[in-house]
Amino acid sequence: MNRVLLIGNGAREHAIATALARAGAKIHAHMQRNNPGIAHLAEHVTIGNITNPQAIPEPSDFDFVIIGPEAPLAGGVADYVAAKGTPVVGPLRALARIETSKAYARETLSRVAPDANPRYSIIRSPDEMREFESEVGLEQIVVKPDGLTGGKGVRLFGEHLRNRDEVAAYIKALLNSHESVVLEERLVGTEFTLQALVDGSRLALLPLVRDYKRAYDDDKGPNTGSMGSYSRETHDLTYLSPDDIARAKRVMQATIDGLKRENGADYKGVLYGQFIKTQDGIRVIEFNARFGDPEAMNVLSIMSSSFVDVCGMLIDGNLKRIEFEPTATVCVYVVPEGYPGPETVKDSPITIDADIQSELYYASVYESNGEIYTTGSRAIAVLGKGDTVPEARRNAYADVTKIHGRLRYRTDIAANINGGS
Ligand code: AMP
Ligand code: GLY
Repeated sequence: MNRVLLIGNGAREHAIATALARAGAKIHAHMQRNNPGIAHLAEHVTIGNITNPQAIPEPSDFDFVIIGPEAPLAGGVADYVAAKGTPVVGPLRALARIETSKAYARETLSRVAPDANPRYSIIRSPDEMREFESEVGLEQIVVKPDGLTGGKGVRLFGEHLRNRDEVAAYIKALLNSHESVVLEERLVGTEFTLQALVDGSRLALLPLVRDYKRAYDDDKGPNTGSMGSYSRETHDLTYLSPDDIARAKRVMQATIDGLKRENGADYKGVLYGQFIKTQDGIRVIEFNARFGDPEAMNVLSIMSSSFVDVCGMLIDGNLKRIEFEPTATVCVYVVPEGYPGPETVKDSPITIDADIQSELYYASVYESNGEIYTTGSRAIAVLGKGDTVPEARRNAYADVTKIHGRLRYRTDIAANINGGS
């Protein structure tokens, strides 16, 4: 069970490759763009399209295939691999709609766990906004495109949209490229991520993670793919009660059961739940059909069970409890200056001091003549570990300063672990 085809080339896939290599896997990495970190761990590398099933290496040459990002799931790569009879870690396209269509996610939840939804409306023309506006009030509106946007398409009234005209204009612009738009009531509270591996029916929970999506300190600025995250040595979060965690788990289980019932197929892969703890209880912000980035780094780096064995149990429909070290992790993303705006610095060299202790995960960088360069997206995730979050945080930030170039990062990741940011 150790010949593995890994699809994807971001920091999340670098973390997956690291966990697979630690478990003795022989990795073939199929990447859109060469990630030097993954290439270093893989026995074979192919560069090509990762979303078109016909463009991937022959699946039957491998014991199993693991799909990192959402785009290949949306492209039907898991369906193709499964049809060839090779086991795949990653859900079929119809099931991945839980991530790829925010409308489908809300509708599914309203059938299986309605209390976990905010008030929402799915609209297909800008005029349809009026009814929802009169229901929740303009100031409460959150606008989301119904499709994949790399975490950057969500805009909130009061922060990204200042008046009715701006809301209407944004909806109109989105409807030019998306079939529908999801309007949601704005939820107030503290977010958390609960990820699970799913073997078709059972969930094996991974440590809880707090993610920081906003570009700047104090959770200001536009949404990004994420600027950092942390997990505690106890694998929980101080602001969540055991009841909160049990509730989030029940919502995830009900979602998996509902997906199976409605699609007539097993969900095999990762289910990522982004939740928010509000005054009225736990609500879902979104689901993903893959590991989070950077949440993958927080959990895979402390997995003490063999990740290859875990994938084997998942494939066999026989998933057991997964073991993790009692270690805290803090992940800080180093991004190019200007990220996530149009002025993001590209093709700029990065140098890294030799005495770094933290684990580094390469995101969107490339290598040329032995040097590492930025692209227009997040560059390197720095993962510090420690017995406690403050210790892991000190370790991560000490090493962030050893990465040089036209780069920036948030300074407040895991600064306050009692809720808020
Ligand atoms: P998403 O791509 O759906 O995860 O949204 C990106 C970010 O926008 C989330 O992490 C939240 O911080 C914020 N967000 C999304 N939906 C809501 C909502 N209904 N209320 C408040 N904030 C939201
Ligand atoms: N950390 C957010 C995501 O992976 O979508």
